[in-house]
Amino acid sequence: MILAIDTSCDETSAAVTDKRRVILNTIYSQVLIHKKWGGVVPSLARRAHMERIDLVVQPALEYINKIEAIAVTYGPGLAIALEVGILKAKELSKKYHKRLIAVGHMEGHIYSSFVQNRKGNPKRDFKFPYLALLVSGGHTELVIFKNHLQYEIVGRTVDDAAGEALDKAAKMLGLGYPGGAVIERMANEVDNRDFHNFPRPMIRSKNLDFSFSGLKTAFYYYLKEKNLTGEKAVVNTNIKELASSYQAAVFDTLIKKTEMAIQKTGITQLATGGGVIANQYLRKKLRQLMNKYDGNVIFPPYKYLNGDNAAMIGVVADYKLKNNIVVSDIGTLDRQPRLSL
Ligand code: KG4
Ligand code: ZN
Repeated sequence: MILAIDTSCDETSAAVTDKRRVILNTIYSQVLIHKKWGGVVPSLARRAHMERIDLVVQPALEYINKIEAIAVTYGPGLAIALEVGILKAKELSKKYHKRLIAVGHMEGHIYSSFVQNRKGNPKRDFKFPYLALLVSGGHTELVIFKNHLQYEIVGRTVDDAAGEALDKAAKMLGLGYPGGAVIERMANEVDNRDFHNFPRPMIRSKNLDFSFSGLKTAFYYYLKEKNLTGEKAVVNTNIKELASSYQAAVFDTLIKKTEMAIQKTGITQLATGGGVIANQYLRKKLRQLMNKYDGNVIFPPYKYLNGDNAAMIGVVADYKLKNNIVVSDIGTLDRQPRLSL
């Protein structure tokens, strides 16, 4: 078994995993702390992680005799937040004489579609290679998942992440933070239709990179012109149409680039991960896309696996342990806020 910790952003999480099975996973979300600031405040995140890390790790310690190694996310993420998890992992590793395994947060999101519950469900065997679409508040990436622990990034955002773009639009509409789920609900109520045809930057470029800041800016000026920002947007009846149209522009871009990646690589199996993948409409569009290519898409099988969690980190760590990829000198493990796959 592996005891895993993730403190990369605004969730404090610890898990116990057994191969791909999750024995327990604890998440302490900081959403309520950051809500009033409209985004994650690093110093507040660090403090909250420090205040809660022991509480979150505690249930996992009941398994300490069966634990073979301690795994921890060392990047990418907020430096001072990552540090809290790393220090705790080092402490546990020394105290209980367990090996230490450093895991990338995005590796975790890639494996999140393969995580199983306690009983080993869903079964899902690995059939490499996969394309992986990772869409969260901090990242938007297309990756070839070639084999265990082997990744090649083929597309990434050149500016904002898709989740960040949704969050910023929600903020402009006065819908609070984080905004992805609220926008999903609003869009649903108008059948996810596109009323405004906002711009889809880089959709025609030949590469697989994404861009969302142009859309965000276009949206801002649209609202400004119509005098519709903040509270005024909330009372405006067109808010659902605005939210739905904006979401359509973001998802259109994700779908088009994923389709280009299928055509370029010939890979027709898609694995997914990240908070935005919780969106049911996006899931539907991805299913339709993969059907078109006689392929298939897999999603994180349980809701908590879309967002940040330590369980996915523990599952990656199991493959690292099998390949003896462990931290040789505990003192040298450092946070890597800009770590890339
Ligand atoms: O993976 P995650 O929990 O944290 C990061 O590592 O960033 O992703 C958070 C992002 C936020 O931008 C949030 O608005 C978005 O995921 N999100 C959604 C939904 N639920 C969360 N976006 C679209 N639809 C949702 N249902
Ligand atoms: Zn994440």
